[in-house]
Amino acid sequence: MKINFLERSLVSEGTLVIGAFEGKKLQDVASEIDKKTDGVLTRSIAIKDFKGSKGEVLRFVAPHGLKISEVILLGLGKEKDITPLYLEELGATISAVLERCKDKTAYVNLPAITTKTINENLSIAHIASGALLRSWKFDKYHTKKKDSEKSRLQNLVFMSGSPKAAKSAFEPLNQVAEGVFLTRHVVSEPPNVIYPESLAKIAKDLKNVGVTVEVLNEAQMQKLGMNALLGVGQGSIRESQLVVLSWNGGKKSEAPLAIVGKGVTFDTGGISIKPAQDMDDMKYDMAGSGVVLGLMRALAGRKAKVNVVGVMGLVENMPSGSAQRPGDIVTSMSGQTIEVLNTDAEGRLVLADALWYTQKRFKPQVMIDLATLTGAIVISLGHEHAGLFSNNDQLATRLKDAGDATGEKVWRLPLGEFYDKDIDSGVADVKNIGSGRGAGSITAAQFLQRFVNNIPWAHLDIAGTAWDKKGRTLSVKGATAFGVRLLNKWIQTHYE
Ligand code: BES
Ligand code: MN
Ligand code: ZN
Repeated sequence: MKINFLERSLVSEGTLVIGAFEGKKLQDVASEIDKKTDGVLTRSIAIKDFKGSKGEVLRFVAPHGLKISEVILLGLGKEKDITPLYLEELGATISAVLERCKDKTAYVNLPAITTKTINENLSIAHIASGALLRSWKFDKYHTKKKDSEKSRLQNLVFMSGSPKAAKSAFEPLNQVAEGVFLTRHVVSEPPNVIYPESLAKIAKDLKNVGVTVEVLNEAQMQKLGMNALLGVGQGSIRESQLVVLSWNGGKKSEAPLAIVGKGVTFDTGGISIKPAQDMDDMKYDMAGSGVVLGLMRALAGRKAKVNVVGVMGLVENMPSGSAQRPGDIVTSMSGQTIEVLNTDAEGRLVLADALWYTQKRFKPQVMIDLATLTGAIVISLGHEHAGLFSNNDQLATRLKDAGDATGEKVWRLPLGEFYDKDIDSGVADVKNIGSGRGAGSITAAQFLQRFVNNIPWAHLDIAGTAWDKKGRTLSVKGATAFGVRLLNKWIQTHYE
């Protein structure tokens, strides 16, 4: 779907979306249409008991005298509640409603929406961004499209008093959406298509937007001593890869922010094999790396004034004659030895080396990792919040706020010595699972912390939020790209 901006006018083709605030009289184009049609709008509103609450929709065939096909009246809710996220959600509603639209083009002509911090065109830009985010679908493997998939709508045109200003306000948001779409794309692709080398190849394309891309192969990682990461991939015929992306939009002297992602392109569990039921879900076990990729695309696209490195630890976790065994002891790049008691607790092994490498090489001012790390986080928080763990209160608060602002919400869970003791091993420095059944997400985070020196660090466990079986406001069912908008917002607020 293409987004365009146009001078306000009464259009004479396609579908028209208009809006009304809760408890307010019809304004602008809505009242104009009402007058032209002898009060059709006023009567429909009364008969259908339309209140104008946020996201409420009243759709009707355009009355005689109008050359358009359908009018959709959208409830805008209360002006005092308006935030960027609120506007994006309104936009998403427009997209959702227009899924059943017979026209190629729809026009959105809402009354001007302004708040103390958001001007009319920024409002329009946020609504457009929400509409765009909600319109993305992964349907490339359906060779015979059902009617519902042949989305007829191709152009969504937003009307403004100054379309040029609306377009330029939209541009950075559009770049973030491009990042989100890249993440959703690689997370949605099946595991025979996305494996470490193919994902690294896609990452190389970011050179086109000005990102520096380096790819380390197994031999190079071996030299660095990354045996924790390599051990996970050793059962696979696919070669493990470490992708390093750098975006240098900030001052030369400024230490970078570092974002590290778990990229298990398929997680069978290895020799500690998973049950067959829902194992296909484990194609999205690379979502953390997918978010790193999309975030870097977003930052480069909007030319963010900040230095950021993104690191993707890419492996496939397979059982085979060459696979790692439960009981193996590996020496990580940090020098710490790890007893691998369960080959299905592989994400932390990948991150152990990826985190160590990142802080050693880049000396970042702050480091954040994202990982579909534990099933336990789905038990604790479901699909509404990602788990947040941090050694730094300010960082945790800032991430919480960025999450609330973007709708990618996080909830902090504790770290502590007591949990840390639980991963002491009798035969090595650390073991890769806790001893009991409790606090599985915390002991996993605790494991990661052993590979972080005392720099500000946060870990986001996105196992419950990376994929949504039902769909969310800003995304249809499937890959969400949870984390891209959150981290983009965090960077924009505090580092640019
Ligand atoms: N990739 C899984 C976690 C996961 C579960 C992600 C559900 C997305 C949805 C991870 O590698 C894993 O298998 N974790 C184990 C750890 C256990 C063996 C300590 C788990 O959560 O069961
Ligand atoms: Mn696993
Ligand atoms: Zn996994």
